[in-house]
Amino acid sequence: MKNIDSRGHVRGESIYLDDIPVQQGTLYGEVFDSPCANGIIRNIDYSKAAAFPGVFRILTSNDIPGENQIGGIIPDEPLFAETEVDFWGQPIALIIAESEEIAKEAKRLIKIDIEKRTPIVDPREARAKNSLIFPPRTFRIGDVKKAWNQCEHIIEGEADNEGQEHLYIETQGAYAYEIENGSIRISSSTQGPTAVQRTVAKVLGIGMHKIEVDVVRLGGGFGGKEDQATAWAVMAALGVHILKRPVKIVLHRLDDMRMTGKRHPYRSDFKIGLSKDLMILAYEATFHQNAGAAADLSPAVMERTLFHGTNSYFIPNAELTAYSCKTNLPPNTAFRGFGGPQGMFVIESAIAKAADILKVKAREIQEKNLLKDGDAFPYGQIAAQCLAGNAWNKASELYQVEKIEQEIDEFNKLNKHVKKGLAFQPICFGISFTNTRMNNARALVHVYHDGSVGISTGAVEMGQGVNTKMVQVAADIFSIAPDRIKLETTNTTRVANTSPSAASATADLNGKALHKACSAILERLKMQAARIHNAEASKIELKDNFVHLNGKQTETTWNQLIQAAFFDRISLSEVGHYATPEIHYDKSKEKGHPFAYHVFGTAIIIVTVDCIRGTYQFDSVKIVHDFGKSMNVSVDRGQIEGGVVQGIGWMTMEELMYNQEGKLISNALSTYKIPDIYSVPKEISIEHLETEGHDMAIQKSKAVGEPPLMYGLGAYFAIQNAVKAYNPNHELKFHAPFTPEKVLMGLYEGVGEKVKH
Ligand code: MOS
Repeated sequence: MKNIDSRGHVRGESIYLDDIPVQQGTLYGEVFDSPCANGIIRNIDYSKAAAFPGVFRILTSNDIPGENQIGGIIPDEPLFAETEVDFWGQPIALIIAESEEIAKEAKRLIKIDIEKRTPIVDPREARAKNSLIFPPRTFRIGDVKKAWNQCEHIIEGEADNEGQEHLYIETQGAYAYEIENGSIRISSSTQGPTAVQRTVAKVLGIGMHKIEVDVVRLGGGFGGKEDQATAWAVMAALGVHILKRPVKIVLHRLDDMRMTGKRHPYRSDFKIGLSKDLMILAYEATFHQNAGAAADLSPAVMERTLFHGTNSYFIPNAELTAYSCKTNLPPNTAFRGFGGPQGMFVIESAIAKAADILKVKAREIQEKNLLKDGDAFPYGQIAAQCLAGNAWNKASELYQVEKIEQEIDEFNKLNKHVKKGLAFQPICFGISFTNTRMNNARALVHVYHDGSVGISTGAVEMGQGVNTKMVQVAADIFSIAPDRIKLETTNTTRVANTSPSAASATADLNGKALHKACSAILERLKMQAARIHNAEASKIELKDNFVHLNGKQTETTWNQLIQAAFFDRISLSEVGHYATPEIHYDKSKEKGHPFAYHVFGTAIIIVTVDCIRGTYQFDSVKIVHDFGKSMNVSVDRGQIEGGVVQGIGWMTMEELMYNQEGKLISNALSTYKIPDIYSVPKEISIEHLETEGHDMAIQKSKAVGEPPLMYGLGAYFAIQNAVKAYNPNHELKFHAPFTPEKVLMGLYEGVGEKVKH
């Protein structure tokens, strides 16, 4: 089925937050934020700004009736800074005016006097100063201390990654207005409507029942609106609460880039031990997560770094420790992969370094150590329906790896100033929120008495196609045309207490809840049909708009059946609730079975490096991916293509930089480059792994949102191999992104010195 949004998107008719018509009397909010990363506020003079014509009010922490607190996991983040500021761009006040322009003008008139303190921007420095968000955690399997003795080779190193700007096309925003009696309706561009509802209620000091959050769709989220959409919605609601006028806030791109957190930069240490025949016997890693100034989702993100610290490999003795380091950057947050990519980059770096030192191909080490059924992850879950080897083997055969490698060798011999490099990138990604209790969802289904259907779930559409999948689920169960089904907006009044649309689990969780609701209605309809046809319900089927009896189509149409049920006063509405079975996790032991299942796959990435300029172009990304049984191939392929490109961008050109003062210097689209149509791989081939799918995946169609991003990790290592082909003196470094500047330095590092070896 085609994505139900495709027509609206192409015609520019799809509704985003900023397209929602505003009410008469709407006011506009502009955030006044900290001009330094760490300091004590001595004085703020709002008088000129407040007196500016058209300004209605300047809201600060003093105006908050409830708690000045928006921290989701740990209550450590004020909505508005009070006496000190902890990051550059931290909100201090909200100027509310009759237009955006006036609010912006007025902002310039605010005078702030801050006593600056030296910020911490580096996570290692934070750890040394014991500036941690919460205590460190360690995952263990086997006995790593003993295992070092058995290792033939032990290799140590560091692997660092920088952050990543989400760059959702639609910036953060919210629109709030009073309904009556103090109730507020908020349109929010959020992945987490319930988080917005809960936080607004807390800050305003009123019940959640007075807050209705509605989401039509997002113009991209990528994790950046899982938690960080909340602040703006809370500010708008606060304005409504105090001024009794509708308030709209939409961040300008530059404000959004400056004020919001990103993917977490990490600084990590590794030590890997291998046997003579390249089996990984021991692995130790220490991760320093740059959390920024408040927890936000960092505890959960850090957890996933640990869960994915051994990627797709079985390592019998491993010890992974992670520190969430508190620095003076904006609180870093969820970003597609959610800490997984950071963990996987370190093990891949360790393997690359080992391969370089041992003079073997990285792929030999990778292949030998792939997970198999029955292998344990460091967190205790046992690999089942493991497809790591299948994906790897299929990729090797289908794409004729030996032949490609030969061709690359030939090419590199023949070409002096252009070199090619190849890397394999296997992935293994656990599906479920790592916080077990979040793995539940609800759906509400109404069959209207004309036979059309309305469905609501907790899923937020952000371009990933979840709405299309939801329509498919209902259409399949009722066996009616998809255009008889309308997917309603995501609304906390229709579907309550939702988990955010995140963790790649949205279609699974909401789809299963929807499946339950539709199935319950279907059972009632079958009984109705049985009464009409004087038959047993078990002999009835609904197929292609008709009632079927004993496998044969009857004359009773879907519409007639619905009419009859309605006249017989049968309920045509249902709420479905789903909670993922079997999963559990014991944090005190760091063991359990946190994931419903894992998604596997292998990518082969080939790059061509221009050795004069240091620029590069990706020839191809050849993938074998475990879709399970994809319920929508075009939607799923779209997720893979987007994920791969986003992963490559993070590993190569997206250079997020803060200076020593904690100021974002890649603060605009002129200084922060993301992949465009010219820099995407020339070819992305995607092959399905034929499998049975997984029962805990919706319609056996495995989650596809985050896993493919990690194919992009291979981009780093492919470039590294090409650089090495040009300059054998190049000493491998592991500090993503591998920008053309770094490539150039690598190409000419030590040139003129004698070639080692
Ligand atoms: Mo997603 S990174 O789990 O919001």
